[in-house]
Amino acid sequence: MKIHVVENYDEMSREAADILADIVKNKPDCVLGLATGDTPIGMYECLVRMYEAGELDFSAVRSVNLDEYYPISPDNDQSYRYFMNKHLFDKVNIDKANTNVPNGRAEDADVFCREYENTINKLGGMDVQVLGIGRNGHIGFNEPETELKPYTHLTELTESTIEANARFFESEADVPKHALTMGIRSIFKARNIVILASGVEKAEAVKTMLSGNISTLCPASLLCLHPSVTLICDKAAYSLV
Ligand code: PGA
Repeated sequence: MKIHVVENYDEMSREAADILADIVKNKPDCVLGLATGDTPIGMYECLVRMYEAGELDFSAVRSVNLDEYYPISPDNDQSYRYFMNKHLFDKVNIDKANTNVPNGRAEDADVFCREYENTINKLGGMDVQVLGIGRNGHIGFNEPETELKPYTHLTELTESTIEANARFFESEADVPKHALTMGIRSIFKARNIVILASGVEKAEAVKTMLSGNISTLCPASLLCLHPSVTLICDKAAYSLV
């Protein structure tokens, strides 16, 4: 794993955006694996600025997102589809037909998950997958468990994740209890992975991820098994390493 420790959130965001921008420039029909949450918002802002400055063209770009709450409507302002439209898709010239976010309204979650995995395969995997890291070491909604599912699946959120995400909802009770998420093997279909961490609340998870031990109890630690991972981490998130 390549590790870049940067000063702060803004620097992390710019570095991540530069990596994605290079991929888009070199391969206009690239497949971007995208993530939601607070962490990548600054990266999306940088990408939008580059687009507005005429430096980037998203017209042929395809995308697949990591996860989505379940059940949730795409119009719900807490859905990840809504998030992606708001922070990126509505602000650049990407064709929404080329964007894939798990369907929070799928009638049969298992059938949908198989289809989503097929979509990833048909796209030929991601050129890059962006990830955040949960305070508990989760990636996507692959929560710490003794066993993990490899492919896209329906999963139950842990208390820690519900608590962490409650800030976006009116109350903790409103946070959906389930999600659709790529599995670790789906994530590994990316040729490159960029994982972002900012803030002291991520320090424990970053420390465990980099401990040298690999455990499903820290799903991010499995990234040590992938051949091309870059961690971009600010000083606060790196402070316990
Ligand atoms: P955050 O979430 O970016 O909102 O901190 C990261 C994650 O839970 O993967």
